[in-house]
Amino acid sequence: MSVSRRSFLRGVGATGGAGAMFGAMGALGLAPAAVAAPTAAFTPPKPSDFSLTGRSARTVLVLGAGIAGLTTAYELGKAGYRVTLLEGRRRPGGRNWTVRGGDTETDLNGETQRVRFAEGQYMNAGPARIPQHHVTMDYCRELGVPLEPFVNQNANALVHYTGDTALSNRSITHRAAKADTFGYVSELLAKATNAGALDAELTAEDQEALLVFLRNFGDLSEGDRYTGGTGRRGYDVAPAAGLESGTVSPAPSLEDVVRSGIGRNFSFELGWSQAMMMFQPVGGMDRIPYALEKAVGPSKVRYGCEVTGVRTTPTGGEVDYTDAAGVPRTATADFVVNTLPPHLAARVPHNLGPGVQAALETPVPAPTGKIGLEYSRRWWEEDARIYGGITNTDLDLAGIWYPSSGYHGERGVVVGYYNYGDAARSYAALPHAQRRQRAVVNGAKIHGDVYGKDIASSFSVSWGVTRFSEAGWVGWADQEGQAYRTLLAPQGNVYFAGDHLSHAIAWMHGAMTSARATVTALHQRVMSS
Ligand code: PHE
Repeated sequence: MSVSRRSFLRGVGATGGAGAMFGAMGALGLAPAAVAAPTAAFTPPKPSDFSLTGRSARTVLVLGAGIAGLTTAYELGKAGYRVTLLEGRRRPGGRNWTVRGGDTETDLNGETQRVRFAEGQYMNAGPARIPQHHVTMDYCRELGVPLEPFVNQNANALVHYTGDTALSNRSITHRAAKADTFGYVSELLAKATNAGALDAELTAEDQEALLVFLRNFGDLSEGDRYTGGTGRRGYDVAPAAGLESGTVSPAPSLEDVVRSGIGRNFSFELGWSQAMMMFQPVGGMDRIPYALEKAVGPSKVRYGCEVTGVRTTPTGGEVDYTDAAGVPRTATADFVVNTLPPHLAARVPHNLGPGVQAALETPVPAPTGKIGLEYSRRWWEEDARIYGGITNTDLDLAGIWYPSSGYHGERGVVVGYYNYGDAARSYAALPHAQRRQRAVVNGAKIHGDVYGKDIASSFSVSWGVTRFSEAGWVGWADQEGQAYRTLLAPQGNVYFAGDHLSHAIAWMHGAMTSARATVTALHQRVMSS
């Protein structure tokens, strides 16, 4: 190869990546054209890709192989750090836990549940939905975790609220509740506008523009009245062939809709992190921690290791733990990153001082729980035409989640409740059989007798009584103050990370961004020392 040819290729390689270089080689007859064509040979970094400048071979002990710990280890590993993770459980992921047949779990009440879901069936006991803008999506892309849509809003799902109004204690489709709420609110605002109530706020022209919007938004008919609209709320007789134009199901009255509060949940889907599209990994949320574990190197994760002491020393950090065989050990490294939930880290003796101890005790653990009901018939699809999505209720179930995959399959796992606060606490206090019974009794109020039929198996998780977690997440009264800031700062050679140190608590995004922040701080320190 002549010098000019070589330098030409080097130039192409430098600016265009490997794909362009192979293309140029093909054009010069040096590489087969088939190799030249695809761009798959080189994936250019995306703006979201996290990379550190500079490398270090320092050692880091990461406490906890949940999302924060795994992300910390993964990113430090890219920059050359030698990382070891200590994890109490026998699996990666922490609260990111996909429950499958054959799993067993003993909770802190002392009850052991054995999961009997059929092959291919699962429940995401922890995180179960990912919004498009979360960094979680970037890790799924980077690690090759296949995604599918998660149905967070479904017009055919239900609302069911207790009370003594005409629309209480009844199941109403989201689509009907929405059409009626939007319809009547639009009617009222149109009425106020037409009566001159907005004359001080809007010009005549702008009032007309508002009315144009309201007629469309509320599906108003003649005289700016909501009379059930044009079919948004659903049909008693559906439009079909020939002359069958359909019969719109009649709307309840304005007073009944307002009084019932059936519209109380529709703001949820406007939330920054709850609006469609949302996603889930194909086959279970734990595809993410397993992909991270693989990228980190499974040999770097020591399972069954319970941390019993954390110390910063003049030369690094020291961690006491009992290993999987119950043998007490001490590990040392240049740095420690502690990702344990703060209320659990608070129980581990350390030499980081009373300020750190007070900080770890500050955030308040929040309970949450779910039950997975495996049905041998997908009645919600066959009978109710609900394909994924969530029913909202003020019964203590809070929400019923229909599976976002496996449509028209033979069986499926419905999340029979996903609740917080007092409801979660009261279910946590019950043995599984009673949780299940209560879930089914309440679910039948929403779906009828079908709810109690064809249940093949069930499993419930109460995060407040789950070992190594003891909460679904934590709440801070103050994320500006001393306690929070103390845990954001390194304490000697010990750092903290976790979703609790983010403004995306109870999201993998929070754990991942916290891990990145800690990794960045640690690496900057190493690079400048
Ligand atoms: N991320 C969890 C969820 O989506 C918990 C959460 C709920 C966080 C609502 C914020 C808002 O269910």
